Amino acid sequence: MSGAIEGSSGLGGAGGPSEPSEPHDVCVVGLGYVGLPTAAVLATHGLAVAGVDLRADVLQTINAGQVHIVEPELDALVRAAVAAGSLRALPEPPHARTFLICVPTPFREGHQPDLRHVEAATRALVPVLRPGNLVVLESTVPPTTTRSLVAGVLAEAGLVAGRDVYVAHAPERVLPGAVIREVVENARVVGGVTEACTEVAARFYEGFVKGEVHRCRAETAELVKLSENAYRDVNVAFANELANVCDRLGLDPWEVIGLANQHPRVEILRPGPGVGGHCIAVDPWFIVATAPEDTPLIQAARGVNDDRPRKVVARVKELAERFKRPRVACLGLSYKPNIDDVRESPAVAVVRALQAELSAELLVVEPHLRACPIEGLELCEAEDALRRADIVVVLVMHRQFQRLPKELFTRPSVIDTVGLLT
Ligand SMILES: NC(=O)c1ccc[n+]([C@@H]2O[C@H](COP(=O)([O-])OP(=O)(O)OC[C@H]3O[C@@H](n4cnc5c(N)ncnc54)[C@H](O)[C@@H]3O)[C@@H](O)[C@H]2O)c1
Repeated sequence: MSGAIEGSSGLGGAGGPSEPSEPHDVCVVGLGYVGLPTAAVLATHGLAVAGVDLRADVLQTINAGQVHIVEPELDALVRAAVAAGSLRALPEPPHARTFLICVPTPFREGHQPDLRHVEAATRALVPVLRPGNLVVLESTVPPTTTRSLVAGVLAEAGLVAGRDVYVAHAPERVLPGAVIREVVENARVVGGVTEACTEVAARFYEGFVKGEVHRCRAETAELVKLSENAYRDVNVAFANELANVCDRLGLDPWEVIGLANQHPRVEILRPGPGVGGHCIAVDPWFIVATAPEDTPLIQAARGVNDDRPRKVVARVKELAERFKRPRVACLGLSYKPNIDDVRESPAVAVVRALQAELSAELLVVEPHLRACPIEGLELCEAEDALRRADIVVVLVMHRQFQRLPKELFTRPSVIDTVGLLT
């Protein structure tokens, strides 16, 4: 294919209705926490959407009008879109005008980015791409990935970005639990491989996004997304480091941080048992991988946060010395409050370490799960655990825990890693 693009307007990136010969306006590749809500939202904006995933069970569930992930309002949107025929799930990409890649980007050994899914998803587009189509990478990636990997793979197939097709990065910055609202309301940062690519991609997002659409280079968009999560990680690490210092000095970190925050130019975040989830604990490594010698602060922050569960465990062990076989209540397993997600959760790391290293009866409480994800342990009711415990470790600030009677915390020794009792 060559010389196919005649201008930068009104082409594949436009959000308007498809040509009669083009059955789909948009194809979303990867139907997980990001891709499925995006596909459902686009389908309710009058676009014909195809969703693609490798997992047959995911395709079957969606085509039955159901969902395989927990996200408020998503089930109703998918049901309506599938019933209306505006969303269907397929094993391979069909022809479409715009392609959004929303596949996972984990890290592998040595915290090196694993971009295999992005490469595979891009290669799968080659047979169906047509002149003027738009390809947007929404997955979180290290700087230069959109240009070198996505545009690079397409160029190998003779599809030059800005000449034959448009290629851009538009990182997703949604908050789990509010994805349907945020996909539409959040501002977007859209960076193309060329200026024309930026423009076409930005116009596509302006078709359904209410927040501002900021135009920039692909590399800028990539680093913006990573900077947001690394910023958060570094600031949490500062709070966690202060908490470590307070523990050593026998001071109350909540009092110290609370008083320091009285200063008009200080805003220290809340410490905790560590940093979890699949974004903040992962994305900073993508900056490190790009510039290892320039990122001592980001690397140190990762180290501080990853070491927090060990510090919490050490404090529990210290308290446990007074008992022959203490009962230890562990409040919370998820990586943040009020959700059921335990991916990379520091609370799980603490409980696992206690199970392996301490002779104790562990009373694990997680109101958002039906079964304990840690082998050999069962879940308990919060009040029952608090009544029986010698030691209590508060690991997550769930709403349910905030409502517990404070008297239940007066008898046992308490390690409050999240400031529940302050
Ligand atoms: N989940 C979030 O809150 C969030 C927020 C912002 C950004 N992100 C980023 O968005 C990207 C996707 O994350 P997610 O949470 O949606 O992942 P996910 O694991 O929930 O979903 C990804 C889906 O892609 C499918 N897949 C993998 N390779 C594929 C391929 N070659 N072709 C088709 N389908 C394929 C998987 O089967 C899976 O269903 C990641 O880069 C992530 O860092 C996630």
